[in-house]
Amino acid sequence: MSERDNLVVRFVKTPPPGPLAADVFSWEKEPLAELQDGEILVRHIYLSIDAGSRAQLDERTGYVIHASAGKVMMGAGAVAEVVESRHEQWRAGDVLAVAYACWQSYQVIRPDTETLFRVDPTVAPIAMHLGALGWVGFTAFIGIFEVGKPLAGETVLVSAAAGATGSLAGQFAKISGARVVGIAGGAQKCALVKEQFGFDDCIDYKRGDIGESIAGACPEGVDVYYDNVGGEIQRAAFAHMNTFGRVALCGQVTQYSGEGAAPGPNLMVAVRQRLTVRGFLVSDHLERREEFVEAASRWYREGRLQHQVTVTQGLENIHEAINSLTLGHNLGKQLCQVADEPAH
Ligand SMILES: NC(=O)c1ccc[n+]([C@@H]2O[C@H](COP(=O)([O-])OP(=O)(O)OC[C@H]3O[C@@H](n4cnc5c(N)ncnc54)[C@H](OP(=O)(O)O)[C@@H]3O)[C@@H](O)[C@H]2O)c1
Repeated sequence: MSERDNLVVRFVKTPPPGPLAADVFSWEKEPLAELQDGEILVRHIYLSIDAGSRAQLDERTGYVIHASAGKVMMGAGAVAEVVESRHEQWRAGDVLAVAYACWQSYQVIRPDTETLFRVDPTVAPIAMHLGALGWVGFTAFIGIFEVGKPLAGETVLVSAAAGATGSLAGQFAKISGARVVGIAGGAQKCALVKEQFGFDDCIDYKRGDIGESIAGACPEGVDVYYDNVGGEIQRAAFAHMNTFGRVALCGQVTQYSGEGAAPGPNLMVAVRQRLTVRGFLVSDHLERREEFVEAASRWYREGRLQHQVTVTQGLENIHEAINSLTLGHNLGKQLCQVADEPAH
């Protein structure tokens, strides 16, 4: 096993604000430890690239986790194939999704102590287990059904609507019977949000005044704001909240690239309109994961759930995968492909 090339990505230093240069990481081939009883060796196929992948590189973002200099980078999951097994429930050729993954080509996993999900490659594209059937899908599911709880006929506004989490949050809100308006950067993304993801409308925040655009697209006001971005869009959305509205604070992408936090909303609105503004972490809701996978798989089979990925090739280009996302070049879920998909 030690002769296998295991390319490992380690964090080197906090980058300056903006897009990443390659020197923020190091890439080195390192030997793999000998497999022990109860362990499996997996080959990563796709690594999840998330808004948090950039945020964790800079402590000032206030993100949930931070990269440490010299340590292997960790991400929010991977889809992988078992290549060797010394665990009775796993065999070479099995495909799995792992909830947290080191950024390296191979990984030794102890299934009894890790959060693993078996993947059936015949049911859906395996990359979907990092998107609609994975962590971001589950996040959107909790944000809509546990936090926002839209009622039929209510208006739901979703920022970063062409991205992984936002596109799914909007689709779940549509399944609830709500009227759903997205916010995204550019005409191409807005078309995708309406035509593929089935939103009722989509605002291009790069054109015109965002407050006026929200007023025009949400004439009845906003009952649920699913906030992925913070900043100026958040400020404008808060100003259009209805009485007893709900804000699902999912994340704050605008402050993830090291530019610092934008001035916040006038929170007097939250008092005046008796808003529920609730932060949440998907990891507090693992008891609903099975229910989510069952529901999302069914909606996918029924053609009610659309899935889109943007793939950057090669572990050596993983910083470019992060830049793709922070520059908004991703349509749907951003991934980094590390190895070929297995033939099934
Ligand atoms: N709470 C949780 O448990 C949890 C779990 C997972 C993810 N999240 C959050 O979910 C959000 C989305 O993450 P994701 O990984 O799915 O990323 P994503 O939405 O696929 O990609 C991020 C998108 O943000 C938009 N964006 C970037 N800079 C922006 C700016 N300055 N202003 C407005 N929009 C900007 C870009 O779209 P445009 O081109 O449209 O601007 C980009 O495509 C993040 O806030 C993340 O932290 C939370």
